[in-house]
Amino acid sequence: MEPFAWLSCPDPKLAEALGYLAQHPGKQLRSRLTVASAELVAGGIVPAAVMAGEAIELLHTYSLVHDDLPAMDDDDLRRGQPTLHCAFDEATAILAGDGLQAAAFQRLTEIEALSAEQRLDMIGVVTKAVGFHGMVGGQALDLAAEHQAVPVTALRDIHSLKTGALISASAEVGAICGGATDSQREALVRFAKAIGLAFQVTDDVLDVTGDSASLGKTAGKDERSEKSTYVSTLGLEGAQQEADDLLSEALDALAEFEEAAEPLRTLARKMVHRDT
Ligand code: IPE
Ligand code: IPE
Ligand code: MG
Ligand code: MG
Ligand code: MG
Repeated sequence: MEPFAWLSCPDPKLAEALGYLAQHPGKQLRSRLTVASAELVAGGIVPAAVMAGEAIELLHTYSLVHDDLPAMDDDDLRRGQPTLHCAFDEATAILAGDGLQAAAFQRLTEIEALSAEQRLDMIGVVTKAVGFHGMVGGQALDLAAEHQAVPVTALRDIHSLKTGALISASAEVGAICGGATDSQREALVRFAKAIGLAFQVTDDVLDVTGDSASLGKTAGKDERSEKSTYVSTLGLEGAQQEADDLLSEALDALAEFEEAAEPLRTLARKMVHRDT
């Protein structure tokens, strides 16, 4: 998948910034989730899901560019290279994020293999996932929870919004692209909500157990910033246990698909038991 391939911009500096982001597109787990979910319900290759997955990767990349800004997490390393505002400047990073978000929605409108109804359905799901009741709301709660002890129930909501929502939408979009029945779609959403939360719990764990070189971002940053994380709340072992429990919950949700869900199960395990 090449989520950045078709992007362009008349401003040379912003265009260069897009080229810079394209050099390291990340693990692309969300788009793989979209494609695997679509293939599961369609029983074969679904080209529309590849395009939709690329749009989701653009949204995810925008969220990281803004997450790293000095006004937010203030990070200088991302995907193994200086963050966009460090390599360029803050205005470029803000504008790149804004433009990536718009480009993602443009991309979703242009998937000709899908009906207008499917496109609208997909755009509705993704809009909610990244908006005030999704990623943006979660990011605001995450910043507000710095320097304080937050109960695990509140942390669960923060993580589900800031990270889980887009991951859940990734699977739901796959379900839409693949023409899922209502019950297949519900099962995939149940699966992806659990795996999305588990993914962020693992991200919290890796901040403690990982090193900057393999993570491609600064390890130990959460503790230094006094972030509320699953590790600060439940301890390292408690957080690891929680991630495993959520993985089991996610896998249970796939039971009705039997053998056909094996690729999705493999991807889910990789999302939780990872070292980058
Ligand atoms: C990092 O996401 C930010 C979180 C939401 C936890 P990824 O770990 O998927 O980052 P990339 O896309 O591979 O860089
Ligand atoms: C990021 O969470 C969630 C986003 C919506 C981008 P983090 O702030 O923990 O992500 P990293 O650790 O910087 O990748
Ligand atoms: Mg953050
Ligand atoms: Mg961050
Ligand atoms: Mg993190």
